[in-house]
Amino acid sequence: TSILLINGPNLNLLGTREPGTYGSTTLPQVIEAAEKQCSSKSITFASLQSNHEGVIIDRIHEARGNVDAIVINPGAFTHTSVAIRDALLGVDIPFVEIHISNVHKREAFRHHSYLSDKAEAVICGLGVYGYEAAIEYASRHIKPKEK
Ligand code: DQA
Repeated sequence: TSILLINGPNLNLLGTREPGTYGSTTLPQVIEAAEKQCSSKSITFASLQSNHEGVIIDRIHEARGNVDAIVINPGAFTHTSVAIRDALLGVDIPFVEIHISNVHKREAFRHHSYLSDKAEAVICGLGVYGYEAAIEYASRHIKPKEK
C-alpha cells in the first residue's frame, strides 16, 4: 500500500500561523509522525506541501498508478479549486479530505468544499490528530488496486 499526503497553501506555516485555530504542532512534526505511522504498517509514504495550485495538480498526476490513497489538506484551495477536484477525479485515486480546524464553525466561505462530495471521508476539527485518523482510515479501508 502507498499513501501520498498533500498539504496545500500556508500549511508550511503550521505551528506559528494562527495557533488558536491551528495549534502549535509544526508541519515537519506532522510529516514525521505520518512517516512513522506508515512505516510501522509497512505503507509506502510520500508527502508534498505546496503553495501553488499547479504544483499540487502535477503531483496528483504523478501519483497515478503508484499511489493507493491520497490524504489531502487542500488549505484555502478547498473552497476555490475546481482544478484540484478534477485532478483527483482524473487519476481516480481515492482520497480523504482533512482540515485541522472545524471549517463549519468558521466563516461561511469555508463551509463549501469542492472535494467533499467525492472524498472517501472528510475529517475536520480534530486538530492535527486528523492526519493520524485519516492515515489510519486509509490504511484500513482503502484497498490497493490490482495492478
Ligand atoms: C484548513 C481550513 C481552510 O479553510 C484554510 O484555508 C486552511 C486550513 C484547515 O486545515 O483547517 O488553510 O484547510
